[in-house]
Amino acid sequence: MKKQLLVLLIAIFIGFGSNAQTKSSETNVLVLIYSQNGGTYKMAKAIADGVQEYPNTKATLKRVPSINPKEKLNADVEKLPVATIEELANYDGIAFGSPVHFANISADMNYFFSQSIPLWTSRTLEGKPATVFMSAGSGAGKEAAILSFWNILASHGMVIVPTGIMGTATLDKTVPQGNTPFGATSLAGSTGIRPSQSELNLAKEQGKALARVASGLRNTENIKSVKTTSVESKSDINKTLKDNNIVIPEAPKPVGNYVPFTISDHKVYINQVALKDGKILNPGKVGATVTEDQAKEATYQTMLNVFAVLKEACGGDLNKVKQCVQLTGYFNTTPEYTQHAGLMNSASNLTALVFGEKGKHARATIGAASLPINSAVEIQAIFEIE
Ligand SMILES: Cc1cc2nc3c(=O)[nH]c(=O)nc-3n(C[C@H](O)[C@H](O)[C@H](O)COP(=O)(O)O)c2cc1C
Repeated sequence: MKKQLLVLLIAIFIGFGSNAQTKSSETNVLVLIYSQNGGTYKMAKAIADGVQEYPNTKATLKRVPSINPKEKLNADVEKLPVATIEELANYDGIAFGSPVHFANISADMNYFFSQSIPLWTSRTLEGKPATVFMSAGSGAGKEAAILSFWNILASHGMVIVPTGIMGTATLDKTVPQGNTPFGATSLAGSTGIRPSQSELNLAKEQGKALARVASGLRNTENIKSVKTTSVESKSDINKTLKDNNIVIPEAPKPVGNYVPFTISDHKVYINQVALKDGKILNPGKVGATVTEDQAKEATYQTMLNVFAVLKEACGGDLNKVKQCVQLTGYFNTTPEYTQHAGLMNSASNLTALVFGEKGKHARATIGAASLPINSAVEIQAIFEIE
């Protein structure tokens, strides 16, 4: 019992801690890669070192999922945490790394971005600094590959950080090197140990350059919010839902002596679990029978249920919402589980996407020994309405 209480307190602390992180004075940079044989991974570590050399800056190294689950990945790459597309919104800058595949980016990285439509239409990544590095074989088509990656970043309105001639003063010119003005690459199929020391130096410089731009821009206001301040209050939630292909389900019916929501002093109080079509989506315990991806899916569904009830509370018009005041996420986890905040981001990101500035909320995340009807998640929400 004492142990469970301790886990509960730690989970609350971590939940609040991670919220606080977004407001911390530290610049947060994501280094996101796909790598099959580890060449891109080695470059990524040098990029991360460069990022962290810049004052007050933290680098997080993650990978995108493999589109072929049977594919054998390099053992170090396999161990990296897997990023979700939604979490790109949480960083001040992102360095993207991919192998050169037929003078292009890898299909896995491309597939990851094919899921970015909600981020694209909501202009979430606009103005966020990004840079691209790669690992090639002979180097054939390496610059074309970086530029094709740039097409995706430009579509998202990201601020692209190139490398120019940085780091080339100390380049070992006795062997071929992967330097380009667009970003560092490694010639994994060329002579000597790869990445070469020169290629790693270039990558480090690139990481530092990204961190500098990310630090400079992180406290500036998003162009979208500057432009739309006066329009924001008139923005139509129904259009946002349609543009982002978000379908609000039917509100689940209460299964006991209670009501789906109460309203007190313009505040709506709602509690929901991961019901979908009358059944719990991905039931069970996170860290045991439920994977993190399944828990995130259940969290997303739970938040949709919250929106469904909220819509009823607003008389069918979500435009009446003035503010999401607070979200509390309870997760059915094993005692040693600690990544509650990452799971809850599925709910927080969805709320921010749908309600924009009005979606900004305080938050707590808590680990629980069990939850009703074996749901992996329960969300308590408080919204202010007109
Ligand atoms: C399907 C495929 C296509 C490739 N196309 C190219 C290419 O066009 N140019 C090149 O220089 N290397 C090419 N390569 C080699 C990879 O870019 C190289 O092995 C790279 O270092 C792999 O990165 P990784 O170790 O991070 O997986 C290709 C490899 C594969 C598997």
